[in-house]
Amino acid sequence: MRLDKYLSDMNVGTRSSVKELIKKGHIKVNGIVIKKSNYKVNLNDEITVNDKVINYIEYEYIILNKPAGYLSATEDKKQETIMDIIKSKRKDLVPVGRLDKDTEGLILITNDGKLNHDLLSPENHVDKKYYVEVDNKIRNDAQEIFSNPIDLGDFVTKPSKLEILSDTKAYLTISEGKFHQVKRMFKFIGCEVTYLKRVQFKNLDLEGLEIGDYRHLTDEEIFDLKNYK
Ligand code: URA
Repeated sequence: MRLDKYLSDMNVGTRSSVKELIKKGHIKVNGIVIKKSNYKVNLNDEITVNDKVINYIEYEYIILNKPAGYLSATEDKKQETIMDIIKSKRKDLVPVGRLDKDTEGLILITNDGKLNHDLLSPENHVDKKYYVEVDNKIRNDAQEIFSNPIDLGDFVTKPSKLEILSDTKAYLTISEGKFHQVKRMFKFIGCEVTYLKRVQFKNLDLEGLEIGDYRHLTDEEIFDLKNYK
């Protein structure tokens, strides 16, 4: 990998500011000042900026408590995206699936393409739990209805788990992630969703994360997340 890419990937600065740092002699590779931006480095080389070691982190795994009003996209010309909240400058980070603009809650963001793909793959049945508020009394047989496949026209849902909290509040756990799935399932039983928040994604929940907060996953969490079979 090029030295300037290594440093900008690790957020030392933009590609152009990193080139300046290199030219001015602030960067050492294995103890030797290197002034060429295109110098090729290996991940086991010791790279320092003003003698501070910068380790290369190949993959980043971020959990965000998404506020309403943000798109689950990497960029948008007009609207704010979840990437505007995340301080990492990595260009290769992408959300694992999507939450609607008005949905809050747990969303993962990573540049680990394989894990992203595996977590979204229907065969892996990754559970996602939502807290739902609706405009209408949830019918008494809703649990029964949701525990069976529902034909929503363009797809048939897999059985899901409904925990009714009150007339208009519930948790719904689904193992899929079709477009507007939760809203459409509630519409099927005559309810409009008025508030939606994802509270759990596989082994992860939002404990300790206020709305708009995010953090990197621990090694143990990443290990558990990968163990989806
Ligand atoms: N289901 C929905 O309807 N919206 C979401 O944002 C997530 C799941």
